Amino acid sequence: MVLSRAALATALVLFGVAPAMAQTGQAMAQTCYVCHGPGAKGAGQIVALAGLPKDHLARQMADFKADKRPGTIMNRIAKGYTDEQLALIAEYLAAQK
Ligand code: HEC
Repeated sequence: MVLSRAALATALVLFGVAPAMAQTGQAMAQTCYVCHGPGAKGAGQIVALAGLPKDHLARQMADFKADKRPGTIMNRIAKGYTDEQLALIAEYLAAQK
């Protein structure tokens, strides 16, 4: 059986065998796809994140977290991650096409 890296990461997280992997940018970015679309390529009114500059993504997340940028939901989401986790997510999403 051939598993994609994302499927493998999800399976490992679900079965709790690789807690360290749950902290990778790739694994954490999965939660963004619910709203930002598969692969964070955008969905309806919600903008795409894939391929945006890492610095832009990191800055937006930091501003949401610090309530410097108002939002409907992103402030609460950003507060759920440490600065290190947000940096990993930004790095991963910026590297996507
Ligand atoms: C529940 C839906 C939802 C989820 C889940 C979600 N977002 Fe968002 N995101 C939004 C909405 C809506 C906006 C527009 C700002 C607002 O209203 O909060 C937004 C805006 C953003 C922006 C600003 C984009 C720009 O260029 O100005 C970034 C960056 C972002 N989200 C990153 C993320 C990341 C990273 C995750 C996953 C950790 C994530 N979002 C998960 C709904 C969501």
